[in-house]
Amino acid sequence: MSRVALVTGAARGIGAATVSRLVADGCHVLATDSCEGPPLATREQLEEVAERHGDQVICRVVDVRDRRALEEAAAEAVRTWGRLDVAVAAAGVVRGGRPLWETSDGDLQDLWEVVAKGVWNTAAATVPAMLAGPDPHGCRFVAVASAAASQGLFHLAAYNATKHAVVGIVKGLAADLVGTGVTASAVSPGSTDTEMLRATAALYDVPVDELVHHQLIRRVIDPDEIAAAIAFCASPAGGVVNGSVLHADGGFEG
Ligand SMILES: NC(=O)c1ccc[n+]([C@@H]2O[C@H](COP(=O)([O-])OP(=O)(O)OC[C@H]3O[C@@H](n4cnc5c(N)ncnc54)[C@H](O)[C@@H]3O)[C@@H](O)[C@H]2O)c1
Repeated sequence: MSRVALVTGAARGIGAATVSRLVADGCHVLATDSCEGPPLATREQLEEVAERHGDQVICRVVDVRDRRALEEAAAEAVRTWGRLDVAVAAAGVVRGGRPLWETSDGDLQDLWEVVAKGVWNTAAATVPAMLAGPDPHGCRFVAVASAAASQGLFHLAAYNATKHAVVGIVKGLAADLVGTGVTASAVSPGSTDTEMLRATAALYDVPVDELVHHQLIRRVIDPDEIAAAIAFCASPAGGVVNGSVLHADGGFEG
């Protein structure tokens, strides 16, 4: 019986690439996104992701700030395919461009709600279904963190803080899961070719290419490359990456 995954932030970028990679690995996927429209993704983009994969993927509009909606999505995956083995928390937003002391409460609040609490809500909504399913030892929770989860990136203090929180959530979750077989990890991408990277370059008012100077590979990463790292962590073999971070950043020159 094929494994079943739930992916947040799945309408575009790293989330959409992860859906494709998980399907290629034989998973059924419930692809979710808030679909708030520009500058975030649209409902049409989410539907296109699902259409590309026929009956392997169904999509639902779900905001990660809404724990009940995530619980309903997890329940739907179980009703539809009989199990839930994987959750990938890829949804995210970026705010910044000012020093910490000039960062607004609104920006900090947005980042806390989506980046940190969104990952928390995704774990809270999906892990119980994994524990109750047929193969907890094959179940994986994977959060998409960032180089900002281990570095202090310039003029991104609130983003740095909430991405560090994502790693804290994964470590705490892995500790709580000892003995169950379910594992939890984070993947930290470097500068990856998505709308968020373009939004980050706009915050600094620099071309995107300037953001790759810290990467030893000296190029922008393709979302499919990050999806491959996420898919490994989400695989049965990926259980070895537990309570820790896979740095998928091409080497960070700090
Ligand atoms: N692109 C990069 O260089 C980079 C680097 C490090 C980490 N990341 C992280 O990777 C993840 C994916 O980002 P991306 O680069 O693909 O950007 P993206 O903007 O293309 O995708 C983010 C997706 O999340 C969705 N989203 C935003 N708020 C949401 C909410 N409240 N509920 C549900 N969905 C929501 C958006 O609609 C969008 O589809 C994010 O967590 C981001 O912080 C990206």
